[in-house]
Amino acid sequence: MNVPLVDLKAQYRSIKPEIQAALDGVLESCAFASGPEVAAFEDEFAAYCQNKHAIAVNSGTSALHLALLAAGIGPGDEVITVPFTFVASVAAIYYVGAMPVYVDIHPLSFTMDTTQIEAAITERTKAIMPVHLYGQTADMAPIMEIARRHKLLVIEDAAQAHGAEYRGRRAGSLADMACFSFYPSKNLGAYGEGGAVVTDNAEFSRKIKMLRDWGTERKYEHQIKGYNYRMEGIQGAVLRVKLRHLPGWNEARRSKAAVYGSLLAGSAVGVPVEMPYARHVYHVYAVRTSGRDALQQILAGKGIQSAIHYPIPVHLQEAYREPHYGEGDFPVSEAAARELLSLPIYPELTREQIEYVCAAIGLPV
Ligand SMILES: Cc1ncc(COP(=O)(O)O)c(C=O)c1O
Repeated sequence: MNVPLVDLKAQYRSIKPEIQAALDGVLESCAFASGPEVAAFEDEFAAYCQNKHAIAVNSGTSALHLALLAAGIGPGDEVITVPFTFVASVAAIYYVGAMPVYVDIHPLSFTMDTTQIEAAITERTKAIMPVHLYGQTADMAPIMEIARRHKLLVIEDAAQAHGAEYRGRRAGSLADMACFSFYPSKNLGAYGEGGAVVTDNAEFSRKIKMLRDWGTERKYEHQIKGYNYRMEGIQGAVLRVKLRHLPGWNEARRSKAAVYGSLLAGSAVGVPVEMPYARHVYHVYAVRTSGRDALQQILAGKGIQSAIHYPIPVHLQEAYREPHYGEGDFPVSEAAARELLSLPIYPELTREQIEYVCAAIGLPV
């Protein structure tokens, strides 16, 4: 048996007629850059996120970049985030000329350890950027409370958390702005690159709309220096189709995670913990073991794909090293980078496949 990490082909087969009709509509209209499908997707995605405005862009990284610019963050400013994330969270902070200040992650949720935030705040701090890693939101109530007390903005990195909930509210509605990625393998993935910023703040929304389209509100009148970060029409049309399926797909991911959880109970690997405040949408299903690399080899030998999200925390990445950070500074992140292994998870994964993966994990490592 072969078990891929994700199976985008199976998903495509399940929605092929709807996708082909949507693509045909864009090809007939020739609205390739932005256009009505993108605008309709923005309305639908904002509503899905229980928020007012969604601004579609060409990647999750662009969404983070523009959210930080709209927040007025720039050289000399600091943004508090975590080192255990995909590098884009941190890269975007450098794009605007600001500095990342890291706090470690919580050992069970793998999201920001909220007890460490206050000690990281300085007079240069402008914002906090929690990352909803693997499909589970950070513990947002203490983050928002600290931010409000210190007059800081909060930007959710929700790139992995479409449809995740925190105490009954959706990711995307939990802070001042939220940034999503529609990279193809995400829970809501485009057929190419895509991203969005979601906010209830009309001024941020207006600024981000200008920034993504060369700083204009009227064609060829450039009020501010902007970018070409528009979403393609085809991606808007595909995302509209897929958004309709997202609730069902997230439910399916949750039920696959439950099957893994029951089969792996009592095994040598630690399974993900759904925090009491969270509704996890399992973008990634990462198990924990000190024998991670050996386990990955055993799985590969049985035709089971796995992945490491992420093997090196950002403060130890060559490109992002700073003299004031080094090995041992964020021990929970560093241990997670050594011990977590992502198993196959996607809505079309079968019970037989999960049983096969769990049987392989039962082998001595
Ligand atoms: C946590 C996180 N932030 C940001 C991004 C960047 O998104 P994109 O790849 O769409 O630029 C990703 C994408 O993988 C991510 O996982």
